[in-house]
Amino acid sequence: MMQPFQKVRALTGMKDILPDASARWEAIEDLVRRWLGAYGYRNIRTPVLEQTRLFSRGIGEVTDIVEKEMYSFTDTLNGEQLTMRPEFTAGVVRAAIEHNLLYDRPQRVYSMGPVFRHERPQRGRYRQFHQVDVEALGFVGPDIDAELIVMLARLWRMLALSDVRLELNSLGQADERAAHRVALVDYFERHLDGLDDDARRRLHANPLRILDTKNPAMQGLVDAAPRLGDFLGAESRAHFEGVCHRLEEAGVAYRLNPRLVRGLDYYNLTVFEWVTDRLGTQGTVCGGGRYDGLVELLGGKATPAIGFAIGMERLLELWNQAIAGGGRECDVYVVHQSDAAQRVAALAAERLRDAGIRVIVHSGSHGFKSQFKRADGSGAAAAVIFGEEELSAGTASIKWLRSEEALARAQQKTVPLECLVDELRLGI
Ligand code: HAM
Repeated sequence: MMQPFQKVRALTGMKDILPDASARWEAIEDLVRRWLGAYGYRNIRTPVLEQTRLFSRGIGEVTDIVEKEMYSFTDTLNGEQLTMRPEFTAGVVRAAIEHNLLYDRPQRVYSMGPVFRHERPQRGRYRQFHQVDVEALGFVGPDIDAELIVMLARLWRMLALSDVRLELNSLGQADERAAHRVALVDYFERHLDGLDDDARRRLHANPLRILDTKNPAMQGLVDAAPRLGDFLGAESRAHFEGVCHRLEEAGVAYRLNPRLVRGLDYYNLTVFEWVTDRLGTQGTVCGGGRYDGLVELLGGKATPAIGFAIGMERLLELWNQAIAGGGRECDVYVVHQSDAAQRVAALAAERLRDAGIRVIVHSGSHGFKSQFKRADGSGAAAAVIFGEEELSAGTASIKWLRSEEALARAQQKTVPLECLVDELRLGI
């Protein structure tokens, strides 16, 4: 007789993504690929499993990820210590070194897929989650630092996410951080009376952590502690100013956050996070920064680099909220100038829907101004215009409503009707 079998369930913190939800995943993956392609990023796929020492060396022995969160085991066949990747960067750098990708040119690469961290699960925090990881290897910046951030601002716009804010800091170089650390220990030693037990324990092992204290009694002391920014040399300061100026030129708002240190050891100079209040306590959608020392640390030729990763579960939750909250009623809003144009528009809209594009055709007055207002309010990525000229030429005009071009130049493009689907697919 068959033994009764106790049902198997998915592991804690690891989710099935069922077909209904999966459609959104595929949509966002497609959009992300188009977005990355527009900046010249190419896909790289590295194994989920790597030698443990890649991560302990790359991410840092004394980090939460390496100390507490890695899924590691011994390969019973050969005794090797292996780890399920807790992030992409170390593996991508390993692959770049192993295959000599950085020999004579820089590389812009991206990966998407699952990563694993043994954290306490809660909303927005899982043990298997997914990242879009983007790495620019071989660039000294600060132009590329700013480009990556501007690129992220574009993604939020493409998804009609308005509540994502940028936090920015510079970690300087290792010697500058070391000098700051000495000053910090010295400062806290002079104020031992004001430290709680936790802080005293951390004083020599990891004084920076004291700055993260949640203890209100220590807040004054922590606020007055020496700041890393005051220990940066001229070069580090110039790099950071270069990034900040470019962001200002591009109209990307940021908040300087001297407390932003990131949880992985490889960073130097520019670090950043995009945060939101819409996801409860796990509000960081994207984090990244420069890691000029990592390639050399992992055995390659010294090569500057910078990158970031987006948490896809968090991005999707934001996107779902934006859609549910009326963020985007449709992908395309069709406006028209006359009854005749309206009839052509209605037929063209049917063909767009055949291609899976969600379309609202304006109903009511033919005044362009009010129609564009409605188009904007619908959250659509583009307005498609059927005016008298388009009607007689058998064309339609596309006006992108959310891309940077639209913001900068109110750019409009007229295309033959048969090209409309392909053109729209470039941006929605
Ligand atoms: P990270 O800050 O550890 O950076 O992770 C990036 C993003 O992954 C976070 O901002 C968050 O959205 C998401 N995330 C992290 N942990 C979880 C979790 N347990 N559940 C759900 N989402 C999570 C890195 O991983 C670096 N490798 C980024 C990077 C690339 N830096 C340079 N290049």
